Amino acid sequence: MRLELKNIHKYFGSLHANDDISLTVESGTIYGLLGENGAGKSTLMKVLSGFIHREGGEILLDGKSVEFKSPAEAIRAGVGMLHQDPLDLPPLRVLDNFLLGREDGFLQDRSKALADLKKYSAQFGFDIAPDALVSALTVGERQQLEIMRLLSLGAKILIFDEPTTGISLPQKIKLFETLRLLAKQGMTVIFVTHKLEDAQDLCGKVTVLRLGKVTGEVTRPFTTDQLVKLMFGQSLAASQRETIALGEPVLELRDLCVADFRLRVPNINLQVRAAEVIGLAGIEGSGQRLFLRACAGLDRPAGGELWINGAKINRQAYHRFLDSGIVYLPAGRLEEGLVPGLNLTEHLILAKRSKEFFVNWNLAQTQAQERIKEYSIRGAPESRVEALSGGNQQRALLALLQPNLKLILLEHPTRGLDIESTMWVWRQLLERRRRGTAIVFASADLDEIFEYSDRILVFSGGRVAKALNAKETSVTQLGELIGGKGL
Ligand SMILES: Nc1ncnc2c1ncn2[C@@H]1O[C@H](COP(=O)(O)OP(=O)(O)OP(=O)(O)O)[C@@H](O)[C@H]1O
Ligand SMILES: [Mg+2]
Repeated sequence: MRLELKNIHKYFGSLHANDDISLTVESGTIYGLLGENGAGKSTLMKVLSGFIHREGGEILLDGKSVEFKSPAEAIRAGVGMLHQDPLDLPPLRVLDNFLLGREDGFLQDRSKALADLKKYSAQFGFDIAPDALVSALTVGERQQLEIMRLLSLGAKILIFDEPTTGISLPQKIKLFETLRLLAKQGMTVIFVTHKLEDAQDLCGKVTVLRLGKVTGEVTRPFTTDQLVKLMFGQSLAASQRETIALGEPVLELRDLCVADFRLRVPNINLQVRAAEVIGLAGIEGSGQRLFLRACAGLDRPAGGELWINGAKINRQAYHRFLDSGIVYLPAGRLEEGLVPGLNLTEHLILAKRSKEFFVNWNLAQTQAQERIKEYSIRGAPESRVEALSGGNQQRALLALLQPNLKLILLEHPTRGLDIESTMWVWRQLLERRRRGTAIVFASADLDEIFEYSDRILVFSGGRVAKALNAKETSVTQLGELIGGKGL
């Protein structure tokens, strides 16, 4: 099925999220839609798949103009979308999820559906038990289920919105294999991403969006530099790492032990000094999160001592940690960091922790406007946080931080962010560091760990290695420690 979008416009209030976008996608190809955070990619794809209404322009399938009032109409015409945030229903079982969206709903022939599910599974080499709970599946498996569901509903154009965020490397390899197979079978695959290497790996043709507009279109072979220029309007200069004299100890851990019901990490000894950056490396779930939460005062440590600015603080309440100038930015920006339903002004008021009884809304509004400008957030004081793109949510979190903090703890500070936002986030953090704030961050990205850490703390299988000097450590050494060798 050949797809044409002609002069698509979409506004959110005064924000022109899609500004006169035209593009053509041939069937049997993998087409890339690339752009920085907030460029308007998801919006365009939601317009195409009937989730939101556009304000202008035309959609053509095989040359015929179509109009979708709902996702159900779109899928009937052959357009299906896998969303950035999965839309499946975790409490249901696999087979019931597979049946969602069918005209005859739950009353239909389950044995036939089961046969269908098995047929698709065999075709793509998927291995999902039909009676498993969706909540027990990995993100990669949920994608596989959704692919099969959309195919069974008759999808010929399949849209994947940022499908490689949050899946493991083997799952990504499997996903790419599946996408290639889909294209080979004649499907039209649209792959939405802000990751250059994914677009280069996979796509024959790529259209780049920036600030709601098409900035260019390239066909294979294309270079990274070409894509970067189209995405950001310039080549990006690498950041310079300054050497900064470290100050007094701000955080000291003596035989700290962190634990939850499945993992116990004892004997953590570490001293973090003002202006120091510590990277936490390790396979996801090796205790980095427990560690960060204990240091932030969110969870009580299971043992040992935690000292802050020279005072023992283990069993103190969370607000004492805040008062001591310690903050924690979780990886779940929307789930844990921000409050969905509240707008930026309201967040600013909450973050101030003012003791006053009345809120000065005019002042708060003005201050929110100032922060939005200062932190280049694409949004307005009255924008609800869930309407911001991932990169803008992270900017908002940073904009809420008070000045002169002692210690910032971060979990995956740049996960899901494009290169420019990533560099922006680090510029902010390094600027704070220059003024004496210590930074402790967990990341799955070894380049990030090496680039920004003074010292590295490796978590592996319930143990923590002695902190390594980043300059004197090789990638191989780090990789071995992460794998548990030499611990
Ligand atoms: N429902 C909404 N209400 C108001 N504004 C919105 C809404 N959805 C998106 N926006 C805004 O439209 C712009 C484009 O957002 P969109 O989600 O399409 O970006 P994106 O390219 O998919 O970014 P990302 O890479 O972060 O997923 C952003 O500035 C966003 O804040
Ligand atoms: Mg998006």
